[in-house]
Amino acid sequence: MGYNVAIDGPAGAGKSTIAKLVAKEKGYIYVDTGAMYRALAIHFLKKNISAENVEQIVLACADADVTIAYEDGVQQVYLNGENVTGRLRGEEVGNMASRTSSIPQVREKLLELQRGLAREQDVIMDGRDIGTNILPDADVKIYLTASVDTRAKRRFDELKEKGQDCDFEAIKEDIKERDARDMNREIAPLKKAEDAILVDSSEMTIDQVVETICGYCRA
Ligand code: DC
Repeated sequence: MGYNVAIDGPAGAGKSTIAKLVAKEKGYIYVDTGAMYRALAIHFLKKNISAENVEQIVLACADADVTIAYEDGVQQVYLNGENVTGRLRGEEVGNMASRTSSIPQVREKLLELQRGLAREQDVIMDGRDIGTNILPDADVKIYLTASVDTRAKRRFDELKEKGQDCDFEAIKEDIKERDARDMNREIAPLKKAEDAILVDSSEMTIDQVVETICGYCRA
């Protein structure tokens, strides 16, 4: 069994930024489970299936093969052999991933992939249900959150930096909607594991969050 750090929290809390830096500092492999849901979402979008069509989504899971590999320490996600890493971050893909991740068969499809990675190596794995469901025995569990305004501002700045046109209020509404979906779904909802450490990054710098989390991990 590897040394396992679970980091869960809502969209835009900075999980991936922080987890990547902690991974570098501590020599862990960073596993981004959201990227796996996003890869499946690309598969459903390619097939033109709507997120409401659960029957077709479940059927489509059968011919989706999601695998991950690491190039220079960076996670690459493959969908049926094609590297889709560059297409994962779009809003349409994110929304599809959020909607379809409430379907049990979609979660089931990715469960073994995630657990297998944590079994074999030292990982920091980010997602929504890592501490509660995927790795209930993780050595360290972090619940990383921030206020809706802070998260919306961060997303807004990120998109602006990429030169994309965006509207702050629309981003905020989208984040609220995604929170509601992720937290209220029946299966594996986003919630803080009882033994997780709550870190609210609203008033913290990236360095402070990284230092805090590294402080909970073995030296
Ligand atoms: O972390 P992210 O924004 O890349 O995740 C995209 C969607 O995938 C998110 O809205 C919820 C879902 N997800 C999940 O249900 N469980 C996980 N462990 C990771 C992501």
